[in-house]
Parts: sequence; C-alpha cells; structure tokens
Amino acid sequence: FETPSLDRRAVRLARAADLWDLRRIARRRTPRPAFDYADGAAQRELTRERSRAAFDAVELLPRILHGIEAPDLSTTIAGARSALPFGIAPTGFTRFMHAEGEIGGVRAARKAGIPFTLSTMGTRSLEEVAEAAPDATRWFQLYLWKDRARSRDLLERAGGNGYGTLLVTVDTPVAGQRLRDVRNGMVIPPKLTLRTVADASHRPEWWFNFLTTDSLKFASLSSTSADLPTITNAMFDPTLSYEDLEWIRSVWPGKLFVKGVLTREDARRSMAAGADGLVVSNHGGRQLDRAPASLHALPEVRDEVGEGVELILDSGVMSGADVITALCAGADFVLIGRAYLYGLMAGGQQGVERAVELLAEEIRISMQLMGAESVRGLGPELMGTRNHPD
Ligand code: FNR
Repeated sequence: FETPSLDRRAVRLARAADLWDLRRIARRRTPRPAFDYADGAAQRELTRERSRAAFDAVELLPRILHGIEAPDLSTTIAGARSALPFGIAPTGFTRFMHAEGEIGGVRAARKAGIPFTLSTMGTRSLEEVAEAAPDATRWFQLYLWKDRARSRDLLERAGGNGYGTLLVTVDTPVAGQRLRDVRNGMVIPPKLTLRTVADASHRPEWWFNFLTTDSLKFASLSSTSADLPTITNAMFDPTLSYEDLEWIRSVWPGKLFVKGVLTREDARRSMAAGADGLVVSNHGGRQLDRAPASLHALPEVRDEVGEGVELILDSGVMSGADVITALCAGADFVLIGRAYLYGLMAGGQQGVERAVELLAEEIRISMQLMGAESVRGLGPELMGTRNHPD
C-alpha cells in the first residue's frame, strides 16, 4: 500500500494534455461507484450530453494580426478579484472521490487565485476548509435543511469564517435519479463485498487513503451505510419556496447567488426575492433530465436581468474553449464541477492544480487566436452566426 511519490504523480499528471486525459486517469484510479457518482448524471443523461454538445456546436471567430502578447485572464466576480474567469463549483461527498477532498480543492484554488465553493454536502467542515486556506476566496453553497435552525447555524458559521458569497442551490427539492448509482449499488460508506475487495487489489492507493483517513465521517451525516438518495432526501426539503429564499436573504448579509436558474420566470422571481446574481446551471445534468443546456438558457436569463446583474454559468465545461464560449454568450464567470473532480481523482490537490493549469492555458491560447486582450472583452461578436445559442 505504498503511496506513489509526489514526483511520480507529477509526471503522470504532466502527461495529461487536456481534461479528457485527466478524466481517463481518474477513471483508472478510482473505484467504479465513486467515479460513476461524479461522472454520471440523471436518468438517460440527456441533459449532460446536450450541455456538452451545446458548447461543441458554437463557432468562435479568429481575429488576425491583433498583436496581443499576454492576454489578461483575470476578472472580478461577487466583489472580489479572480485570477481566472472560472472557479470551483460545490460538490458533495468529495472525499469519496479522493481522500484529499475539499482541502485539496481549496488549496489548489488558493494557489491559482480563484474562488472555491464548499458544499453543504461537503466532507469537511466550514472551519476545516477555512483553516486549510485562510486567504483563499471561499464561497459557501447552501441547501436549505428541513431543520431551519441548522440552516441558520450554517449561515452564521459561514459568515464567521470568511465565506463572503453564498450560493443557494434551488434545483434540488429531491435528489435526481442517478441510474449509474442504482446499478452500482452505490452506498456510503462502501460495503465490504467481494467486488470491493477485488477493487482494492487494483487500486490500493485509493483504498489505503480512504481507509486510513477519516473519510468515512461525512460532515453532518450519520456513519451508517445508506444509499445516496436516502441520505440526501433525508435533508432536502421538497417544500422549499420563494418565501424561504426571502428568509435566507434576510439572514445573509453577504452576496447571494441563486444556483439552478434556467428560465426567464425563475430569473425574475429570484431577483425579486433579493438575489445579487444567478448561477445558470442544470446541476451538471444531475437533476431534471431534459432540462436545457445552460448555454441555451443563458440568453433568455440575461435578457431578463439586464447587463448589470452578474451571471455565473456551469454544467458541461470541460475546456478553455467552453469557458470562452460561456463568456462570449454573456456569462460573467464560470464554475467547474467535474473538471475539478477529474483532477482530484487523478491526483489529489496536484491533480486539481493540473486541471486549472490546463484550462488556463487553453483560455490564454484561444484568446490570443481570437485577438482578445481581456476576458471582459469577450462578447457575442466573437461567436459565429451558425449554431449560435439563441
Ligand atoms: C455536484 N453539484 C452540486 N451542486 C450543489 O449545489 N451542491 C452539491 O452538493 C453538489 N454536489 C455535486 C456533486 C458532484 C459529484 C457533482 C459532479 C456535482 C453540481 C455542481 O455544483 C455543478 O453545478 C455541476 O457539477 C456543473 O457541471 P459540470 O461542471 O460537472 O459539468
């Protein structure tokens, strides 16, 4: 059960030429139920595929002879500077994917100068993540618990520990049906079966890390084995309404983004309830299958809220070109979910650093080819007219 030296890990990661390579490494190194939990989506996974296809269909226009030596990739979002136009999305059960989990994620984010979002379903506490990277830009994602006192407690701890921005996720009244998890018999913590023992002989590092850290202790979850919908539905509140959003607004003094908005009507009502901005997201296709691609929903949402409101986009972003496409289409900022987790599964914090580095390099080169000096200068005029999202 020898943990490979960091050098070997670095060599392996350096050979990954893009995020898809990191995904391949992640798949090899992670037990199937954990990989599939991260990689999979709801039902037939149509929304996940369509979200990706929406990016692929867009044309970006080159601009020649623009003489740009070093484009500026930095931007501001939620009142803070970010060195790159994307940040890390909230993910639950992160230490199930790799024992370094949220700590690896927040440290990589701090190094890169980008925001990191801790999930309510995270596997490290608000305090642990703050302590691991005190000077990182940290955001907190809230699922409203059935127990309102607990929600208020989380918000107070988030505020007290320097999480300046809150993402309230609203697309999850119940957990989506993730069929890969059903088929894999996915439970947390994993049950000891013949299959898991066989897996352990192939992936000693993952199992060693998992069993020797306290990964089994999920933040605020019981340690008895249960399938994921049981765990999550015990906490989600299907009766959540716009009044609850107003309540959160009344107790959270910082920036507040509503995450999971895909239509004009929801954009309007979320803003009326006091949101500062919106995250246009289909939860990576993990909730309502057949929900629209975020890229397709973006123009309608932008049209509703106007230019002055910050819009963050996620779901399906796997390359720098995807980030650029989202920005050209009207997003102010992008979040990466799986792209970050593939890096984490491929090599812990170092893997996340590699994922961020690959995306940054792809963005930089595309901007130079597009004659764009800064990310704020990316707009619809740099997209082709064929297959435009609207
Ligand atoms: C998520 N996502 C998510 N969102 C959220 O608000 N709270 C959460 O706890 C989680 N958990 C979670 C776990 C895993 C394994 C994944 C892949 C995703 C959704 C996430 O924040 C983001 O919206 C999507 O991941 C974006 O899509 P991509 O980048 O994964 O394609």
